[in-house]
Amino acid sequence: MSDTLTITDNRTGETYEVPIFYGTYPEYGAAVNTKDLRAIKATDDDFGMLSYDPGFTNTASCKSSVTFIDGGAGVLRYRGYPIEVLVEKSSYLETAYLALYGELPTSGQLETWVHEITHHTFLHENLKKLMDGFRHDAHPMGMLISMVAALSTFYPESRNIGDAACRERQIYRLIAKVPTIAAFAYRHSIGLPYVYPDNDLSYAGNFLAMMNKVSELKYEPDPVIEKVLDVLFILHVDHEQNCSANAMRSVGSSHADPYVSVAAAAAALYGPLHGGANEMVLRMLREIRTVDNIPGYIKRVKAGEFRLMGFGHRVYKSYDPRARILREMAPAVFEATAQNPLIDIAVELERIALEDEYFVSRNLYPNVDFYSGIIYQALGFPVTMFPVLFAIPRTAGWLAQWSEMLQDPDQRIARPRQVYEGYDLRAYVDIADRA
Ligand code: ACO
Repeated sequence: MSDTLTITDNRTGETYEVPIFYGTYPEYGAAVNTKDLRAIKATDDDFGMLSYDPGFTNTASCKSSVTFIDGGAGVLRYRGYPIEVLVEKSSYLETAYLALYGELPTSGQLETWVHEITHHTFLHENLKKLMDGFRHDAHPMGMLISMVAALSTFYPESRNIGDAACRERQIYRLIAKVPTIAAFAYRHSIGLPYVYPDNDLSYAGNFLAMMNKVSELKYEPDPVIEKVLDVLFILHVDHEQNCSANAMRSVGSSHADPYVSVAAAAAALYGPLHGGANEMVLRMLREIRTVDNIPGYIKRVKAGEFRLMGFGHRVYKSYDPRARILREMAPAVFEATAQNPLIDIAVELERIALEDEYFVSRNLYPNVDFYSGIIYQALGFPVTMFPVLFAIPRTAGWLAQWSEMLQDPDQRIARPRQVYEGYDLRAYVDIADRA
């Protein structure tokens, strides 16, 4: 037995031997380097064999040590620690540190880390003017993406991506300032004055204060809501090579600064097939309106009219562990807040879908977005803030992926190939002669 793949090219009868390499788990990460396929040629002047994989459904774009997902078993781990354990024992900032530095912090490291994040939360005053330029009905996600990109112009030294200390400073700034931008975007949309960060509060507590403070001298976050938000943040730290992480790595691979790279990742997250899905889930549940309408709605999904939002996942082919944690947390949330009537529709919709052959045969289970929107709404966040609430904690994951990419000697500028299907060389047609 040998760790190689033997490929026979039936066009030429030639045989090629390609080495196989493995990640931590041989059963989840056996791979060949597709560059080895370039040796396979029909003629000497052939370019060589490419691999065709739209949407990267079977392509590993990197080696990574940040997040492990076993989509069949519903497992999610950051740096080897199960998500359930981190939710039970860690805070969001501790988890963000773990994702970025690879180890849980000692108490001294955690203290320094929390101090650095807490003391980088303020924005340059000019950014407020930029925010004021948006229309009152601008989507907060559009504002977040633009404002994060604008940070690049305030910290031009961030282009120095080869300097580890400089990279670290931008990481503090981004994790610290994204919640401030997010809250300012919300306050702008409802016409309330911006609330400056409160350094006495936790990461989640400060965000709640910047969102909700009115005239009280000191905003005291509800401890249950603060804890639930922190858990939601932990669940969203990273999710390996998804669309937005791939955007972060792809833009970062050109050595663009981390602000514009995070803005690009946030833009990828905004789409309804990715982080925009929880907003779509709420719209869907509202449209269904009553439990009685569920069978009719499912019929239309099966007829291909539209997708069941919050269902299905590229990687999870069983229950998304984040969705399970949220489903279990929901009763405690509704005890602390008002009951969200949409939960009854969601639970019944899930029950019916999970018994239906269409969903069972395609391994379509609820993903994190199925329940996160209902919980965000119960916590008092408007629907348009949902993708923003996803982007806040995911900033740590994007930066972990970015740091790893920059330090990986295998990585080069992301530049895929194509299989050209267009015309061969043609003679130019003058405008008078065109049909
Ligand atoms: N509702 C109905 N059918 C679905 C759904 C759905 N939500 N998702 C997939 N399918 C069907 C497809 O129609 C397809 O059926 P077919 O084989 O008969 O053509 C089959 O299941 C496989 O679907 P793909 O599109 O190939 O799966 P892919 O891995 O490309 O897509 C995705 C994954 C985009 C998440 C998809 O399941 C989807 O659109 N879900 C709804 C949006 C959503 O909830 N997104 C959030 C993802 S989690 C996150 O980003 C945080």
